[in-house]
Amino acid sequence: MQFKVIENRNMTAQDDEKDVYFIRLTYEEPADYDAGDWLLVESQNRPDLVDFVLQLLGLSGDEMIEVRRVGERTVRDALRENYELTQLNPAILNRMQREYDLDQWADRDAMMAYADGRDIVDLLQAFPQLQSLGAEFCKMLSPLSPRYYSIASSQKSAAAQSYAGRMVDLVYKKIAYHKEGRDRLGVATYQLSDLKVGDVIEGDFCANKVFKLPEDLAHNKQPLIMVGAGTGIAPYIGFMEEIAYEHPQHFANTWLFFGETREQTCFLCQDQLQSWEAQGFHLLTAFSRDQAEKVYVQDLLWQHREDVWAQLEAGGIFYLCGDKTKMAKDVEQTMKRILVEVGKIEDPDLVWKEWRRARKVQSDVY
Ligand SMILES: Cc1cc2nc3c(=O)[nH]c(=O)nc-3n(C[C@H](O)[C@H](O)[C@H](O)COP(=O)(O)OP(=O)(O)OC[C@H]3O[C@@H](n4cnc5c(N)ncnc54)[C@H](O)[C@@H]3O)c2cc1C
Ligand SMILES: NC(=O)c1ccc[n+]([C@@H]2O[C@H](COP(=O)([O-])OP(=O)(O)OC[C@H]3O[C@@H](n4cnc5c(N)ncnc54)[C@H](OP(=O)(O)O)[C@@H]3O)[C@@H](O)[C@H]2O)c1
Repeated sequence: MQFKVIENRNMTAQDDEKDVYFIRLTYEEPADYDAGDWLLVESQNRPDLVDFVLQLLGLSGDEMIEVRRVGERTVRDALRENYELTQLNPAILNRMQREYDLDQWADRDAMMAYADGRDIVDLLQAFPQLQSLGAEFCKMLSPLSPRYYSIASSQKSAAAQSYAGRMVDLVYKKIAYHKEGRDRLGVATYQLSDLKVGDVIEGDFCANKVFKLPEDLAHNKQPLIMVGAGTGIAPYIGFMEEIAYEHPQHFANTWLFFGETREQTCFLCQDQLQSWEAQGFHLLTAFSRDQAEKVYVQDLLWQHREDVWAQLEAGGIFYLCGDKTKMAKDVEQTMKRILVEVGKIEDPDLVWKEWRRARKVQSDVY
């Protein structure tokens, strides 16, 4: 599907080390999404990165190769549109090790550790013998995947009505950093950050059935506890838009625990959140770098543990969105501590597992 850019702006202050953007897209094709779903964004590798890979492989780019499930293409087109270059899949290392008799990595964990934070150029530079494979090397590459983005809007919102519902917002962090003498730019987010009003991108909706507002909010008072850090704010904006439009009375039963680095420079969606707060929803923020000791969302949950437990006991749903590797694990640990110390639950692992199964706990972590 095609999506047209209506707005694309940096939400973080110019002097902040991270760039988080808000993008609004419209579309013509009839398609519905629910708050909590994802948009899959297609992208292409940058021409300068493709040129660098071609140069390392000693190719002009006009050579023809067979791309699996696509057909014959020039190497240049294939490197631009069909293969991952900015990420290094450990499966490539496994294949290299097998087929080229390398004895470099002891096991899969070692391969994963090596691949983390490296790209295809790193690999070609570290193992120059691969460069002589020329076009054959491309056959080892992984297919270029669309990137997932949590939708930060609802079709049932005041803003969406201006576009007959055919509007979708995202919140994305631009990946751009310098390492070992080279700029590393995320294939999707760098391309997104460069888009101007009127530009068109390709993408598709993808349903996320396990991260949803409860049905029938008009008639139930089920508390909603939303927890997220960084771009993890995205799906909650969709949830809140829908609540604001259809069930504003439910704001009183809605809590958001939001974490970012600094209030001055990184308070994502601040105006929107504060205007909803003025209508009665409970906004709690943890700005980790605004004081000597770090404060994270799980610290807020612990501070408000009696309330959090009371809302869960009253049938509340617990949502978690954002970083999978650190935040999600630490939040889960804090919640289990609350279950034990406030809820007097003996086996919090079992209860948490049951709550996940019953969708009382829902997560969108990455
Ligand atoms: C279910 C799901 C939902 C998601 N929702 C969102 C969302 O709402 N907003 C959002 O911004 N992202 C979201 N993501 C992440 C998103 O899909 C991309 O992975 C991310 O934007 C990077 O894509 P890229 O193509 O720009 O970077 P790539 O080209 O894939 O990245 C290049 C390299 O940069 C490094 N890198 C990747 N991500 C980061 C990062 N965040 N910070 C620092 N270094 C990094 C890695 O080493 C990576 O190999 C979601 C992911 C999933 C799976
Ligand atoms: N692949 C990678 O290399 C990589 C690296 C970073 C992020 N990411 C991905 O990008 C996503 C969004 O990044 P982002 O910059 O928007 O958000 P983020 O990195 O998750 O940071 C948002 C907030 O979370 C805080 N935080 C750090 N560790 C935490 C923890 N253990 N528990 C709770 N909060 C914690 C951060 O504090 P401080 O920063 O002050 O500690 C910051 O205030 C993440 O969800 C993650 O999946 C990927």
